[in-house]
Amino acid sequence: MIVKGLNIQNFRNIEKAYIEPTEGVNVIFGENAQGKTNLLESIWLFTGCKSFRSRRDREMVGFDAPFAKNEMTFFAKGREQNAHLFIDQKRTAMKNGVTLKSPAELVGEFYAVVFAPSHLSLVKEGPLFRRRFLDTALCELKPQYAKALAKYNHTLNQRNALLKDIQYHPELFDTLDVWDEKISSYGAAVVSERVWYTNLLSEKAAEIYDGLSDSKEKLKINYVSNFGGYAGDPYAVKDLLKEQLSESRRDDIFNKMTTAGPHRDDLQIQIDSLSARTFGSQGQQRSAALSMKLSEASILRDRTGEEPVILLDDVMSELDEKRQDYILNHIRGRQVFITCCDPTTVLRLCEGRTFHMEKGRVL
Ligand SMILES: Nc1ncnc2c1ncn2[C@@H]1O[C@H](COP(=O)(O)OP(=O)(O)O)[C@@H](O)[C@H]1O
Ligand SMILES: [Mg+2]
Repeated sequence: MIVKGLNIQNFRNIEKAYIEPTEGVNVIFGENAQGKTNLLESIWLFTGCKSFRSRRDREMVGFDAPFAKNEMTFFAKGREQNAHLFIDQKRTAMKNGVTLKSPAELVGEFYAVVFAPSHLSLVKEGPLFRRRFLDTALCELKPQYAKALAKYNHTLNQRNALLKDIQYHPELFDTLDVWDEKISSYGAAVVSERVWYTNLLSEKAAEIYDGLSDSKEKLKINYVSNFGGYAGDPYAVKDLLKEQLSESRRDDIFNKMTTAGPHRDDLQIQIDSLSARTFGSQGQQRSAALSMKLSEASILRDRTGEEPVILLDDVMSELDEKRQDYILNHIRGRQVFITCCDPTTVLRLCEGRTFHMEKGRVL
């Protein structure tokens, strides 16, 4: 996967920019708030996934512009291709001149993995960040996962709305059966894929962590299901979830929310059998988060046969030289975009093409 050319128009503070990156390391440097992360985000959006920093598409359109229009030429699946992304209230995508039904159809056409300082939250913060990590990784790998997850979330919202209504309309109680059936079906699809991914992740991340810690410590990652849904078989998971939903009905009505299901699951990250979140040092937590993100890239490569483009947003300055070195060695052979304030540290470690960003312009 190689970005050959990127043309940006009215995307956030970038009114107009065109870059021709190298196949190796591209360093985007400049002071704060000049548009470096915006440039990475514009590349990321060609994965077909949602932005890694905004929920609303409209937020990405330049303040004074009616729409944003980005175009990328890239090399994938043995040939040169191009994609367009048009953003106003929502995103519309084109690939090789054909308008796609949804930007999600770009999933599988262009792959990238993004690292940002906020990824330390993966280890340090609550379960939401770990579920988001799994969901993003899986959405990029399997478009059908994104569909199952959207259906699950939609059904969950409907069940929760019903739980609120039941107190005023007890006759609605029986309709819970229908929702429990649906929710356990979509929920089982979500959990089975997450468990599958976690097993791949745990193995890869342990290898990488081993390298980062000079084989002194062991990293282990487990999927933690709040209703015991670990079985690889989605039917078994579905039955378990349905049973749990039915058992917790009274509590759910009382609390007006659904307590069982993948929206409450988590990943357990352990270093030498101790929780990295509770007991890990800053350095261990950084290494664990880094191992997980590097694994995400390796899993994408292994499963798709394509090397994802690596987007490193402001992470180099946070890492000691050993870890910086490790990353750059590990991702050799992939195209990389690194944002930073001062390009000298990165360029001391490797060769690269530099792009200076100032006020939304590439100088
Ligand atoms: N929709 C938008 N329109 C115009 N400017 C925007 C928009 N969204 C964000 N910005 C501006 O982009 C700048 C931040 O860019 P960013 O890429 O995060 O900077 P950095 O170079 O520090 O990575 C901020 O000045 C912010 O106001
Ligand atoms: Mg930034």
